[in-house]
Amino acid sequence: MPESSDTSFQSLLHEIRVIPPSPEFAGQAHVRTAEDYDALYQRSLEDPEEFWAAAANELHWFAPWQNVLEWKEPIAKWFVGGQMNLSYNCLDLQVERGRGAKTAILWEGEPGEVRRISFEELLQQVQRCANALRSLGVRKGDCVAIYMGMVPELAVTLLACARIGSVHSVIFGGFAANALVDRINDAKAVAVVTQDSAWRRGNQVPLKGTVDEALTKCPSVRRCLVLRRTGAEVTMTPGRDMWWHDEMARAGAVCPAEPLDSEHPLYILYTSGTTGKPKGIVHTTGGYAVHTYLTSKLVFDLKEEDIYWCTADIGWVTGHSYVVYGILQNGVTTLMYEGAPNFPEQDRFWKIIDDHRVTVFYTAPTAIRAFIKWGDEFPKRHKLDSLRLLGSVGEPINPQTWMWYAEVIGKNRCPIVDTWWQTETGGIMITTLPGAIPAKPGSAGKPFFGIVPDVVTPGGQPVPEGNGGLLIIRKPWPGMARTIFNDPERYQRQYWSQISGAYCTGDGARRDPEGYLWLMGRVDDVINVSGHRLGTMEVESALVSHAKVAEAAVVGRPDPLRGAGGSGCETLVAHDAPAPDLKDELRAWVTAQIGALARPDDLRFAESLPKTRSGKIMRRLLRELAETGEVKGDTTTLEDLGAIAALRQADE
Ligand code: WTA
Repeated sequence: MPESSDTSFQSLLHEIRVIPPSPEFAGQAHVRTAEDYDALYQRSLEDPEEFWAAAANELHWFAPWQNVLEWKEPIAKWFVGGQMNLSYNCLDLQVERGRGAKTAILWEGEPGEVRRISFEELLQQVQRCANALRSLGVRKGDCVAIYMGMVPELAVTLLACARIGSVHSVIFGGFAANALVDRINDAKAVAVVTQDSAWRRGNQVPLKGTVDEALTKCPSVRRCLVLRRTGAEVTMTPGRDMWWHDEMARAGAVCPAEPLDSEHPLYILYTSGTTGKPKGIVHTTGGYAVHTYLTSKLVFDLKEEDIYWCTADIGWVTGHSYVVYGILQNGVTTLMYEGAPNFPEQDRFWKIIDDHRVTVFYTAPTAIRAFIKWGDEFPKRHKLDSLRLLGSVGEPINPQTWMWYAEVIGKNRCPIVDTWWQTETGGIMITTLPGAIPAKPGSAGKPFFGIVPDVVTPGGQPVPEGNGGLLIIRKPWPGMARTIFNDPERYQRQYWSQISGAYCTGDGARRDPEGYLWLMGRVDDVINVSGHRLGTMEVESALVSHAKVAEAAVVGRPDPLRGAGGSGCETLVAHDAPAPDLKDELRAWVTAQIGALARPDDLRFAESLPKTRSGKIMRRLLRELAETGEVKGDTTTLEDLGAIAALRQADE
C-alpha cells in the first residue's frame, strides 16, 4: 500500500465484468431498477433530513424529535429531542406487530444443539436480564463489558443493556487478558458478563479464566455475571461473581424499556487505530437505529419470511449492526452459529444453510477464500437452494473470489452485495444494492442513500477519474460515530482534520466512470488480517513491551488467504544474536498481550531498523520488503542502508 503522502496512486485492478441481477430477483426487490436507485439517491441528497425522517418514522419513538439533524463539525446530533429505545424497537414493537411467536434468534451450537427463541421469549429474557443487571448495580449510563462466545445470551445482554440505557462494550472472545484490561479500564466498566468457556473447534476456550486474570487489574468492576455454557469448572469469587441462571431466576419478569434521548450512548466498541491505544468508538441510539434498520432492509432486501445469517462474531461491529440490531428491528429471523466453519468438517456452513433453509447469507472474503482452498466438494454436498442473496464485508473481495462465491454458493442465481463500511460508520455506506445495481466483481458499488463519498488527494483536491485517492465522506449520516470515548480531541484529529469539511475513512479508493467505487485498502498504519483490523502500532507496542525487544516495526504483507497478514521485524538492543527460540517466544508474547489474531506470522531480526535521518522508521521500505522480498524504492533518506541488507539476509 502506498504511503499516505503520495499524491495519487494507481489501481492495478482492471476488472470489466458487469453482472446484472436476474429479472426474478429485481422484480421482487425493495428497489427494483437503476432508475429507481438514481431517483431515490438524488432525493436523499436534495433533502437528506426528509429522507432519513421517513425511515425513522417506520420505527417506534416515545417522543418525537424536533430537529432531524444538528451538525457542527465534527459533532452530529440526529433526531434531536426524540426519545426511543432500541431494545423496544427490536422486541416490543415486533410483538405489537404480530411477530410474538415468530423466531427471532435461530441458534445452533457448535456441538449441534438448536434453539429457536421467539420474539416474545426474547423479550422475556431481555427483561429479566435487564432487571438482573440493575440488581447488580448497573445504572443508566454505566458501561457493561461483555466477553462471550456466540451464544443467544450475548444478544440478550446487548438488548438488556440497551433497554435500561447502560452502555455495552463487547470485547471479542479472542482477545487476551491484557487487551481486556485496557478496554475495561478505559470505559470504567462496572460489570462484566462472561461465560465459563466457549466451544471452538471442539475445544474449550476458558473465557471466565481470562476474565479472572483481567479483573485483578480492573478496579471499576464490581460484579461479574457468568453464564454456564460448557460446564467447565470455574472459580467464582464470592461477592463479585454471580451465576447467570441464579440471577435470571431471581430477577423480576417485567422491565419496561426506558425512554432514552436519541443521542444517549448505546455502545462503545474498541477498534484499532494508528497508535498503540485502541479507540473506543461511541455510537448513540436514534441515528444508529435508523441507519442499521434501513440498510438491513434495503441492502439485504429483507422480507418477512427470510432466514438471515451473518457469520460475523458479535465481538465486531458487523455483529452489532447486522446480527442483532438492524435485523431484529426488521422483525426478521437472525441465525447465530456458535462455532468454527470447519467443525466437525469443512462443510458446516453449507449444512447449516440447508438444515435451516437460510435465504440471505453474509460473510467475509477471508472466509470465502478459505472455502475455496478447502475445495468445492464441501459445498457440493449440499443443495444450497434456499439461498437468494449473498453478501460480503470486511475487505475488498477480489474478482476471482467473487466469481467462485457467485457460482459455487449462489449457483449463479443469487446477487452478491458487497458492502463497504467501518466500525466508525456504524452501518453500510457503499454497496451494490441488489435488484437495482448491477455488480462489478471487485467493486464495492455505489453510495447508499444519503451517503456522499468522494475520492480526493491528501490535499483535498479531486483526483482525475479512475485515479486512486483517499476515500472521504462529505455529509454526516445517522449511524456515524459520535466520538472516541474519553478522547474527543483524538476523534477530531483522526477523522476530521485531514480534509476540511469531510470525514476521512483511512481507505484508498478510485471511482470509475459509472460512479462505482473500488476500494484499495488502508492508507494508514492499519492492517487487515482475516477481515480484522489491527493497528501495526498495537502489535509493535506489544512487542517492545517484551524485555528483549528495543524496537519493532510491523507492516502488512499480502497473504492470499488472510488478506494482508502481519509480518514483524524486530531489533534487539543487545548486539548478540537472538536466541533460536526467541521467535516463538515473541509470537507467544503477542498472543498473550493482544490475542492470537495479532500473532505475527513471521519475525525477522536485525541489529537496527531502517530509519530516516530524522529517526522515523521507514515503513515504506519494510512494506516493500514484506511484499516483494526486495527494496527498489527510493532509499535516499535512509540513514543506514545496511539495515535493509541485514533484514533481507535474515529472511533468506
Ligand atoms: C475494510 C468492518 C473493501 C476497509 C465493517 C475499512 C472493506 C475496514 C470492505 C473497516 C469492503 C470493510 N471492501 N474494504 N466491502 N468492508 N473494509 O471497522 O479497509 O472492522 O476501513 O468494519 O475494513 O473495518 P471494521
